[in-house]
Amino acid sequence: MRILGIETSCDESAVAVLDEQRGLLAHELWSQIDLHRAFGGVVPELASRDHLRRLLPLLRTALDSAGTRAADIEGVAYTAGPGLVGALLTGAALARALSFGWNVPAIGIHHLEGHLLAPMLELPTPPLPHIALLVSGGHTMLIEVRAVGDYRVLGQTRDDAAGEAFDKSAKLLGLPYPGGPELAQLAERGRPGRYSFPRPMLDRPGFEFSFSGLKTAVMQAVRAATPSEQMRADVAYAVQDAIVATLCAKALRVLEFTGHQALVVAGGVGANRELRARLTREAAAVGVQVYFPRLEFCTDNAAMIAVAGMYRLRAHEQTTGGIEVRARWPLEQLRPPGML
Ligand code: KG4
Ligand code: ZN
Repeated sequence: MRILGIETSCDESAVAVLDEQRGLLAHELWSQIDLHRAFGGVVPELASRDHLRRLLPLLRTALDSAGTRAADIEGVAYTAGPGLVGALLTGAALARALSFGWNVPAIGIHHLEGHLLAPMLELPTPPLPHIALLVSGGHTMLIEVRAVGDYRVLGQTRDDAAGEAFDKSAKLLGLPYPGGPELAQLAERGRPGRYSFPRPMLDRPGFEFSFSGLKTAVMQAVRAATPSEQMRADVAYAVQDAIVATLCAKALRVLEFTGHQALVVAGGVGANRELRARLTREAAAVGVQVYFPRLEFCTDNAAMIAVAGMYRLRAHEQTTGGIEVRARWPLEQLRPPGML
């Protein structure tokens, strides 16, 4: 089976071609970061318009670089939610039009299921069941992945996501959007022990996160000190340390609670080097193997949507009727492929 994947849930337009036997044949991506930078965040209307501009050229390039003719595509998978409704609609409309025109089935995919299945794109694939730590600009979740399509959310953030906490702190330090990677870079020159920020929810039982208090603490620290390059680096160090320590502690707590021996890290914050090093170290100490998907599969992409689509189309699932997308869509409403 050869599947086309389309992702447009936020500020990345992406198209991929996945072959059941030969693996990923192409994955093309256009990031809108430059478009939104001036506004310090994603502007939904601009995102939708840009998806419209980029999608067809991306589709042509993806088919060309996969060496595939449209006639060889046997199914189209697209992100149907959660995300920005206007942005989602651009991808959904294209996917459903292609499905109609090519006379092949289409399937609407849950964006987070895409993230959860991204590790299936590479060898070695993680064993099932396992725990996934999904950390992006919009989500901070600990999920028990029991099987494809069978997910249990064990903990999530009550307010800001981990990526959001990185980005908001970075903004307070005068770094450009999205500040996560820049803050991490600045933190490398920071000195430990100069600042200590709250490690939210660490002292409480359970698997929930809360990061909104962090930006207030950062704001107070920035205001109280004479700004200097070293002080900004010290603050960056303490911010990263607080976020990473919290993520690691809660992930380990969930692993201990469930007894699972594999942890998958997905989402853009999975790119953070300190998080990778610390999780790997702490997990190894308790006999847990950590899987980090390749960076391009960690952040938003269409290959992960194609993989999720492959599982579902193969089980003869398809989306018919009106073109519908969902801004919100609880992950636990999903069922294993073919069991709807
Ligand atoms: O998954 P993603 O690409 O997009 C969505 O949010 O869907 O994640 C982006 C988030 C941003 O908040 C960005 O600042 C953060 O991931 N991020 C990082 C790093 N690289 C990306 N945060 C900390 N350290 C990094 N190296
Ligand atoms: Zn995402």
